[in-house]
Amino acid sequence: MTYQLEGKTVLVTGAGSGIGLATTRRFLEEGANVVAGDLDVSSVNELSGKEKAVPLQIDLRADGATQLTEAALDSFGRIDALVCCAGVAPTRTGLADVSPEDFMATFDVNTLGVVRCARAAVPQMAEQGKGSVVAIASDFGRMPEPLFYDYCVSKSAVLSFMKSLSIEFGPKGVRANCVSPGATRTPIWEKPGGFIDLLAEMYGGMDREKVVDHFAKEHKKFALQRIGEPEEIAEVVLFLSSDRASFVTGSDYWANGGSLPVY
Ligand SMILES: NC(=O)c1ccc[n+]([C@@H]2O[C@H](COP(=O)([O-])OP(=O)(O)OC[C@H]3O[C@@H](n4cnc5c(N)ncnc54)[C@H](O)[C@@H]3O)[C@@H](O)[C@H]2O)c1
Repeated sequence: MTYQLEGKTVLVTGAGSGIGLATTRRFLEEGANVVAGDLDVSSVNELSGKEKAVPLQIDLRADGATQLTEAALDSFGRIDALVCCAGVAPTRTGLADVSPEDFMATFDVNTLGVVRCARAAVPQMAEQGKGSVVAIASDFGRMPEPLFYDYCVSKSAVLSFMKSLSIEFGPKGVRANCVSPGATRTPIWEKPGGFIDLLAEMYGGMDREKVVDHFAKEHKKFALQRIGEPEEIAEVVLFLSSDRASFVTGSDYWANGGSLPVY
C-alpha cells in the first residue's frame, strides 16, 4: 500500500532503534524526507534511502525537540508529520523501588519528550494549515502494572496530552493520534537485562528462546498468541501520518495482537 508520503517531511524521535527505526525505514521507502533524532543515530546511517534522512543526535531531555524542528525547516522548509517514538521502560520491583525522582526521570523522556516536540513542531504545522502528530503510547497507558509503575503513568499522561492536542489544533488542520503497541520485539525485550531476561527469571530460569512464546500464549493469552514486530507498529504509524487517515484525530490505535480484551 502506498501512503502518498513522497516528498513529505517527517520528524521521528527514537529513530535509532526498535519501533522508531522501523518507522524511519518505512517512511524512507515511501519517499519521505526523515529528520531522524535519537541519542544514538548510528543505525539510521545504515538504512537504504538514507540520502533522504537527516540523522540527528539529540537528547529530548535537553533541547532535542528544538534541534529537530530547526533541522527540518533548514533542510526542507516545512513539517508534515511528527512521530514520537523515543521512550524508556525501566522495570521496578514495587512501590518501594520507585522514587519520585524515578517518576520524574521516566516522565522527562516519555511524556515531556512528546510535549516538547509538539510545542516545537505543531505551531509550524498550524501555520501551514495541516499536519499530523503520532505519539507511541502503550498498552500500559491503560493497564496499570506495578512492574512498570512510572512507565504506566508516563504513558497514561501521553494519551491525555494527545487528546488535548487534537482538540486545540484540529480546527487548524493538525491531527493528533496515539498508537498503543502491546509487547513488541525490540531491544527493550532483547537487550541483556531486558524483558526477556526479566521474564526468564520470573519463569524460574526458562530458556530465553521459549520465554516469549510462553509469555504470549500461556501467561498473557494474547488473542494472536505472539508478540508484535516493530514493522507492524510502523505500518499503523504511517497510515495515521498520511492523508489516508484524514478524518482520524484524537484516537488511540491499539496494535497489540489482542492483548487488551476490553473496550
Ligand atoms: N517494545 C515494546 O514492547 C513496546 C510496547 C509498547 C510501547 N512501546 C513504546 O514504543 C516506543 C519505542 O520503543 P522500542 O521498543 O522501540 O524501544 P527502543 O529502546 O528500541 O527504542 C527507544 C529509543 O528511544 C531513544 N531514546 C531514549 N531516551 C531518549 C532521549 N532522552 N532522547 C532521544 N532519544 C531517546 C533510545 O536511544 C532508543 O533508540 C517507546 O516509547 C516505548 O515506550 C514499546
